[in-house]
Amino acid sequence: MTQTLPATRESAVGKPVDRVDGAVKTTGAARFAAEYSYPGLAHAALVHATISRGRVTTIDTAEAAAVPGVITVLTHHNAPALKPPRKVTPTDLSTMASGTSVNYLNTDEVHWDGQPIAVVVAESPLAAREAAGLVRVTYEASESTVDFAAAEPNATPQKNNLIMQGSAKKGDAEAAFAEAPVRIDSRFTTPPLHHNAIEPHATLALWDGDRLTVHDATQSIDWLRSHLATRFGIPASDVRVIAPFVGGGFGGKGFIWAGTILTALAARATGRPVRMVLTRESVYRVVGGRTPSTQRVALGARADGTLTSLIHTSVSRLGRVGGSPEAVTSQSKHLYAAENILVQQNLVELDLVSNAPMRAPGEAIGTFALEASIDELAYELGMDPIDLRMHNEPERNPIDGKRFARRYLREAYRVGAERFGWANRTPEPRSMRDGRWLVGMGVATAFHPSLLFVANVAVRLSVDGTVLVRCGMQEMGMGGATVQAQIAADALEVPVESVRVEYGDSTLPMAPSAAGSMQTASVANSLLAACEKLRRRLTKLGRSADESPAAVLAREGLPSLEVSVGSDTRLGRVAGQLKFMSKFLVDQRRWMKAALGAHFCEVRVDPDTGEVRVSRWTASFDVGRVMNAKTAASQLRGGIVMGIGMALAEETLIDPRNGRIMNPSLAEYHVPVHADIPPIDITYLDEPDPTMPLGLVGIGEVSITGVAGAIANAIHHATGRRVRDLPITLDKLL
Ligand code: MOS
Repeated sequence: MTQTLPATRESAVGKPVDRVDGAVKTTGAARFAAEYSYPGLAHAALVHATISRGRVTTIDTAEAAAVPGVITVLTHHNAPALKPPRKVTPTDLSTMASGTSVNYLNTDEVHWDGQPIAVVVAESPLAAREAAGLVRVTYEASESTVDFAAAEPNATPQKNNLIMQGSAKKGDAEAAFAEAPVRIDSRFTTPPLHHNAIEPHATLALWDGDRLTVHDATQSIDWLRSHLATRFGIPASDVRVIAPFVGGGFGGKGFIWAGTILTALAARATGRPVRMVLTRESVYRVVGGRTPSTQRVALGARADGTLTSLIHTSVSRLGRVGGSPEAVTSQSKHLYAAENILVQQNLVELDLVSNAPMRAPGEAIGTFALEASIDELAYELGMDPIDLRMHNEPERNPIDGKRFARRYLREAYRVGAERFGWANRTPEPRSMRDGRWLVGMGVATAFHPSLLFVANVAVRLSVDGTVLVRCGMQEMGMGGATVQAQIAADALEVPVESVRVEYGDSTLPMAPSAAGSMQTASVANSLLAACEKLRRRLTKLGRSADESPAAVLAREGLPSLEVSVGSDTRLGRVAGQLKFMSKFLVDQRRWMKAALGAHFCEVRVDPDTGEVRVSRWTASFDVGRVMNAKTAASQLRGGIVMGIGMALAEETLIDPRNGRIMNPSLAEYHVPVHADIPPIDITYLDEPDPTMPLGLVGIGEVSITGVAGAIANAIHHATGRRVRDLPITLDKLL
């Protein structure tokens, strides 16, 4: 069912086409949410709670209000009413998008240390921030649970629902494990992590009567529109969300957080346009990040390496007032042909800001535990870790026997091993050196499921040969708009430069959030259908074989021709989704589809100080047909950089006594800098997925998965030490 393009001209798809938004971004002409202005613009800043649970007893705003330039200080005593967010239901993804269930400034309740309890609105950002520091608050604290390590033994099993499986099994994995001749059974921990996009969360909100316009740094203009409509009790059609440029999201801008809601509330209260740019500290305190985890991986095998048992269990956390479970064990159902499999995810709820998606939520940390365990088993068996993986490479999806849409993991390993020079590795730990440095090489598998969702797209062809694609998708740096321009160019036989893509505005036909690695495929699917519809119209107008699409319009005296796919009305959208679900999605679910890859990394470890340097990286992917050689490589490389941060540096430190984040800044929360990143060699097989539009597979998240596993395995090879607790800082190697 792969849709194809007319083969009459050289294809733009696949080429390393420059980003369509490259020039405006590099010249500074692109305007991000915080760069819009309106007459009378006011500025807002947040006041954060300093207890983890309880009530505000007094809140004294006199000193803050006296700061020159302060317009108002909003608290639960004087803030306009907000309606509570919709109840989270397992069948409606958009309800999960409420970052938390807290009705900000409409309650004296405090649910975590850092929750916003007041908003200062002032004539300047500095006045707002200064005043925010002068709001005096007293509390009545109640007992709270904030220590993940202490709470995790009391975790409860995550239930299965339509969106996510909390558990799955095949056979009797515990019994098979008990009988296995070769066994390993390990416990892993990963810390909480926070989002540090270059652009902090920012909102500019503007009311015109009961109509609300927001410029917002969001990955989800549709969810944001419906969320704000619910909270302010107005129709969704009266909310406009504008977000043409977003400076990185990675999941942190997928849900709707306090800053956005409270900016709209502040604008409501003051009758002024209000802008709020969260400080880096405020991003940490009010926006969720990656859950911490503890994981057990137990593997049982025969002496020849055949896996007889694979057990992967996890504990992760939610906030007591929100959060979504992460698919920590997802890859363990798919990667290895174990005869018996058991996966079980468990959850605890803590009095902390709720967790949120962060690039490959679940799989990023789940592949660390699984792939480090596979490496450990390879050593136990005396096998090469790639040979062990190939020996257990499944013919069908291990957990349920579904057919794979496509699976070229063997080829990815073969190509990657060749480019990396895996054959030069001597398997014995501590056997390779470069001067004083211990050298280690490690591999791990990358995995992320492939999804598609409904998207609405309109396409207009003009008589001058230009094409306008309109779609309410978001572009947060992935290259999505460029890829859609390439696809439209091929489908309508025009040069890429003749295509303009309008996106990032809720007045456009709605597309899914830029999340789940599914936006490009979902939009491409509808765009192809729209272009097909347009070509049929041209055929009806008597287009001949040698006539260009624009020539048909000229001949017919038509200035332009526009078609759309999907429906943009609320009701039409629901109906459209149902139709789509029944026909397309269900069809899609007949196959197991995933983006796959093989990471090869080389590290150098200082034997005296424990310092780890990542010195070389090769990654080889099986990600379907690549749409744009340049943006795809950048996207895949970026995930590896984030994975290196996760493996070696990043960790949100939370005081276990009071739940306060202790390192809410880039000075204390360490992310890799250029000097930490080696040249990254990206390669891919470019084998189309026959079940996906144009054979493409989403690549937004796959490359972060497996990275920490490959690094841990390389460090073991270098030093003989297995570190199962992220981040692998030098103290753990001494
Ligand atoms: Mo993502 S973590 O689906 O933005």
